[in-house]
Order: sequence, then C-alpha cells, then structure tokens
Amino acid sequence: MRREKISNFLSVHHGVLPVGLYNGEECAGRPREVVCNRTLHSLKLTMSKKVLLLGGAGFIGFNITKYLAENRNYSLTIADNFARGKEDKLFTELVEKHQIRVVAGDFTDPGTYQLLDEQYDQVYMLASVVGVDNANSIPHEIIRINTALIFNTLEWIRRSKVSKVLFTSTSECYAGTIEAFGYKTPTPEEVPLCIQDIGHPRFTYAVTKMLGESGFLNYSRILGFEATIVRYHNVYGPRMGFKHVIPHLVVRFRNGETPFKVYGHDQTRSFCFISDAVMGTVLAMEQPGTNREIYHIGTQEEITIGELIHYAGDLMKFEGEYENAPTYPGSVSRRCPDITKARTQLGFEPQVKWTEGLRQTVDWYNQYLEQGNKVYE
Ligand SMILES: NC(=O)c1ccc[n+]([C@@H]2O[C@H](COP(=O)([O-])OP(=O)(O)OC[C@H]3O[C@@H](n4cnc5c(N)ncnc54)[C@H](O)[C@@H]3O)[C@@H](O)[C@H]2O)c1
Repeated sequence: MRREKISNFLSVHHGVLPVGLYNGEECAGRPREVVCNRTLHSLKLTMSKKVLLLGGAGFIGFNITKYLAENRNYSLTIADNFARGKEDKLFTELVEKHQIRVVAGDFTDPGTYQLLDEQYDQVYMLASVVGVDNANSIPHEIIRINTALIFNTLEWIRRSKVSKVLFTSTSECYAGTIEAFGYKTPTPEEVPLCIQDIGHPRFTYAVTKMLGESGFLNYSRILGFEATIVRYHNVYGPRMGFKHVIPHLVVRFRNGETPFKVYGHDQTRSFCFISDAVMGTVLAMEQPGTNREIYHIGTQEEITIGELIHYAGDLMKFEGEYENAPTYPGSVSRRCPDITKARTQLGFEPQVKWTEGLRQTVDWYNQYLEQGNKVYE
C-alpha cells in the first residue's frame, strides 16, 4: 500500500506536490496538498516534464524509465551506447509503447551531447562501466570511460538548461572506511569516503564515483543547477545481466557445480530489490529539499553470503554439498546502509524482503535460460 501512496506523488513545476489521494495521512512528515482526481487528471495532461536518462538502457535505468512511463506524464529520453544496456524485446516494447526517445551514442565523446536537447527538467546520470570483473580486468577503461562520462556531462550541463541531476554512486566509496577504520554498520551517509589501496584495480570504480559525487555537488553549487546523489547498495532483480552475484549463482547451480563453492560465506550484504531502488531514486529526484543531499538507497536486511547462497540453492532444488571459500581481495566484510535519512526525508520504505526478491529473480533467470536465451557479457 505504501508504494501506491508514494507513486501518487505528482510533480509540478520543479518540485513535487505530494498529492493527497489517500486517507488524510501525512507522508514522511511533509506537508501536502489535497487535490481531487479531476484536478490531478488535468494537471497530468498539462504538466509534462522533460526527463533524460543517461545510461537508461541498463538495469536500473530501464526500470526507472518504466516506472516513470507508467506513473508520470513526462517526455522521456534514454541515451545509451548499448555497450551493456540491451535493445531486447522488453526494451523495444517499453520504448514503443510509451513513445520514448532513444539517443544511441558513446557519451565519452563530447560531440555526442549535440544529439540531446538543450533543456531538461531532470537528468538521471546512470551511465557508467560497472562491476568488479571489469574493474579487475580493465581498470584503465573504468578510469577513462567513467571519468569522461562524468566530465562531459558536467560540461554539457554548463552549456545547457538542466534543472536537476541525480548522480548514481555506490557503497564501494566507503568500503575502505569500514575495513580500515572499523566505521559503524549500518553506515550513514556522513561516513568519510575511503579506499584501502589506491593502486588496486578493484578500487578504480569507487575512485570514479567519488569524482562524480564531488563533481556534481560542486558544479551544482557554482553553476546553480540542483544535484542529488544516491548511493546504491547491492541492487538486484530480473534483467540485471549476468555479471552479478545472483544471476551468476543461477548459472552455476544449473551447471551442476558440486561441491558448490560459497565464496566469502561469512561476509554480509544488504540486497535491495530493483522496485525498491527505483522508488528511492525517483523520490530522491522528485522530493523537494533534496538539493545537494546524498542518500543511501538500499535495505537494512543484512544477511551473510552463506545465507543468500543456501537459500538460492533451496530455490534451485540443489541437493549437493557446499564448500566455503575465500572471495575477491578487497571485498568488504560487512555492508549495510543506514537508511534513516531516506526514510525520514524522502518517505522511502523498502517493501520487498530479500527472500521474496531472490525468488522472483531466480525464477526470472531460470525461465530466461529455459527459453533458450544465452548467458551474455
Ligand atoms: N546495480 C547496482 O547494484 C549498483 C550499485 C551501485 C551503483 N550503481 C550505479 O548505478 C548506475 C546504473 O547501474 P546499473 O546496474 O543499471 O548498470 P548498467 O551497466 O546496467 O547500466 C549502465 C548503463 O550505462 C551505459 N553506458 C556505459 N558506457 C556508456 C557510454 N560511453 N555512453 C553511453 N552509455 C554508456 C551502459 O550501456 C548501460 O546501459 C551506474 O552508474 C552504477 O555505477 C549500481
């Protein structure tokens, strides 16, 4: 129910008018105005924001686009080079059904920005090279591509009329603070950012995200556009690709691995289902008062990797043996966000328990593979 209430927010001008379509409750302690359904309908018809999703064909971007297409009356543009974002059936259907503009191009090239419009009300900055495997194997490309995407986007904003940008960062930015300084877990946003080993390839990704956080917050202050940062914590769900722990597990179980290696069995993570991540992100973009704020978007359901793998094994009807094994060097031992700030300021409340989200994700990947689709990436 909470999700429905939140989705009834209606954006007006450059802020958000939380529309009171439900029983006189306060939402997240914020004032709200009550409008009748007819007013809501006519506002929806007349107010159309222009929204750009840079990296919008990827896992999280696709799902934010879908949510906005189904719940807002915005003019949506996805910009992506489709290096990882997919022009699959789901993408094509979404784009065609909602008349979403697609700009295909490599945004490490500053010239590609000429394909965009000059004015947007909201820009979701999701474009990035992601993943531990990529960081370990092509750290120089992580530095080149992510830095170029951040810098080119900031300089394009300088020349354009962009009202608000949301930059997507990561919990990896403070992994070192937890390991080296024993910072508290669950971890709030004010944690100092730190990596443990500046020369280690794994940390190139976090370094570029620190650049992005600093870049967007400071360009915003000097140039006068609004910027908000979200730090995601292990977002997962259907259609996330195969370079993530959960789809990887499905493939390994299907391949009959036994004994089944449980890498990093006693490490903890807090897995955030995609629909919850989308809700947190849209709230961070649309709620008033979020300018130059950082929000941890995730859940506080902290579980061990062992628990995750054993439950995935149950879902896969695995009956073999498990064997604990060490994980990637540099992998943080505990990760759990403190989401109090997002709860109190945004009204963000994750809805999907990890067991339910895991079941949905495992089912989706099983079905995908049973239909003869390939493991890609
Ligand atoms: N998924 C998570 O758990 C998680 C955690 C922390 C942070 N994030 C951040 O959230 C954002 C979205 O993550 P995601 O999981 O959807 O990743 P994703 O890889 O699915 O999406 C990133 C998108 O950026 C696009 N892209 C890459 N290089 C580009 C270029 N040169 N020009 C244009 N587009 C380009 C890719 O094609 C892809 O569609 C990323 O910035 C990521 O760093 C995600």
